Amino acid sequence: MHNISEYFNIARKSVLESSKILKKYFFLPPWQVGTDYKGDRNPVTIADKKSENTIIRILRKNFPETEFLCEESCHSDMVSGRKLVWIIDPLDGTVNFVHKLPLFAISLALCKGKDVLLGIVYNPISKEFFHAIKGRGSYLNGKKIKVSGIKNIKYSLVVTGFPYSRGASAQKRLINNFDKFYSYTEGIRRLGSAASDLCYVACGRFEGFWEEKLNPWDVAAGSVILKEAGGKISDFAGGSNYIFGRSIIASNSKIHKKMLEIINNANKR
Ligand code: IPD
Ligand code: CA
Ligand code: CA
Repeated sequence: MHNISEYFNIARKSVLESSKILKKYFFLPPWQVGTDYKGDRNPVTIADKKSENTIIRILRKNFPETEFLCEESCHSDMVSGRKLVWIIDPLDGTVNFVHKLPLFAISLALCKGKDVLLGIVYNPISKEFFHAIKGRGSYLNGKKIKVSGIKNIKYSLVVTGFPYSRGASAQKRLINNFDKFYSYTEGIRRLGSAASDLCYVACGRFEGFWEEKLNPWDVAAGSVILKEAGGKISDFAGGSNYIFGRSIIASNSKIHKKMLEIINNANKR
């Protein structure tokens, strides 16, 4: 096993390398981006795949002993939990990317079981590089960040996202949650990149974030960045199964209890 700084330095290198690919494709005309659909209204581009391959190639060459859990090419790989695992979203915010909206990021985490040891979230257009190493704080472009101090949900700006899979009952639940947060908060945003949403809570732009049906690659890196910035994160039941459990509430910690209450009361009859 290497020391954590060695993992971080190579991880950063792989992210910066793959960011060149995302940037190149982002500025190409739409017909050259090679958009395909892996599910109903769930796009994937050549850039997603090339970005992922680049990150894996660099990490595997330097750390052949590690495992991978990634969105495009190895999401069904069995992860033993005994080894270190890289969790990769090579392009979080593909819908934005396809529509030329410059809000997307590469999300990369190193985990041991459910423990996230380091996380990087990088937007190559805004050049915002968020990172955290467990126990050492969170940083945006090298400057320490922390969550906002707002305690009252009434003055909170919150953010959410909607899953690709749709269905009448899920839609009703999503709208109910949205409706409740709309009446309790100062405002709601929906940006289209869960990894960025978590980092924006970490640096105090938002007070809270919630979403369901996310995958580990959407949230692993952002979760350690948020926690190291003083935030709180849980699943909808208030438990700790937010990376693999497919529901997440993240906050500046002060409004967490209220957010849990809102989510859990929104769908009661
Ligand atoms: C998506 C984004 C989006 C969230 C979706 C995710 P992708 O990731 O994080 O904000 O609402 O649920 O799947 O597909 O662009 O990597
Ligand atoms: Ca994603
Ligand atoms: Ca993705």
